[in-house]
Amino acid sequence: MALKNAKTTNFLTGEYKVIDPKFGGDYKRVELDLGCGKGGFSLEVAKRNPDSIVLAADIKANRLSKINNKAAVMKVTNLETLRVMAWDLIGYQLPPNSIDRLHI
Ligand SMILES: C[S@@+](CC[C@H](N)C(=O)[O-])C[C@H]1O[C@@H](n2cnc3c(N)ncnc32)[C@H](O)[C@@H]1O
Repeated sequence: MALKNAKTTNFLTGEYKVIDPKFGGDYKRVELDLGCGKGGFSLEVAKRNPDSIVLAADIKANRLSKINNKAAVMKVTNLETLRVMAWDLIGYQLPPNSIDRLHI
């Protein structure tokens, strides 16, 4: 069951548009964890870098909803989960020069 304050996953597959990598937030850096899996690394990066927004991207949606729940428990708010194909995200869904650090 999803937690009350947990975010929802951004389903980008099939949306052929460029996204705002900061999701309207006032962040200094954008960090992308491509193929984030269960999200342990993404959550730790977000926790240690409150000035950054961490994009936790994976093709498996069920993993991403668990990450959202863990983020809510940990009170991590600077993380967005993206359900996406890696090549779609890198190829055209992110604006040029929008990623400061890439984790694979
Ligand atoms: C080895 S696991 C990642 C482990 C994770 N980075 C960590 O440090 O715990 C690889 C992940 O990449 C995802 N993946 C594989 N192909 C993908 C693709 N084309 N687009 C997005 N994610 C993909 C898989 O669903 C899986 O969760």
